[in-house]
Amino acid sequence: MKTVLSSFCTGVAVVTALEPDGRPAGMAVQSFSAVSLDPTLICFRPAHTSSTWPRIRTAGRFAVNILASDQQDLCRRFA
Ligand SMILES: Cc1cc2nc3c(=O)[nH]c(=O)nc-3n(C[C@H](O)[C@H](O)[C@H](O)COP(=O)(O)O)c2cc1C
Repeated sequence: MKTVLSSFCTGVAVVTALEPDGRPAGMAVQSFSAVSLDPTLICFRPAHTSSTWPRIRTAGRFAVNILASDQQDLCRRFA
């Protein structure tokens, strides 16, 4: 965890989840950051108006996909 988080200074990530019915949800975020190693905590800040965040929250678990600099198309798709 320390190795992963220490290699991420700033950038864009895509937070993804599967809803209980199997539908995929995902959103591009710039607000991703590390909070603590013990306990293991990260944060991202969804807008109050986000329609995707309630779906991710309902899923109960999510993945954070850190984008590379050549993945702008993917970023646009998830925005
Ligand atoms: C580079 C970039 C960074 C973004 N960062 C955030 C973020 O930190 N929080 C957020 O709520 N939306 C962020 N967005 C916007 C969401 O990706 C976008 O609003 C969302 O996926 C569209 O659906 P929703 O807003 O209804 O959930 C970002 C968009 C882009 C292009």
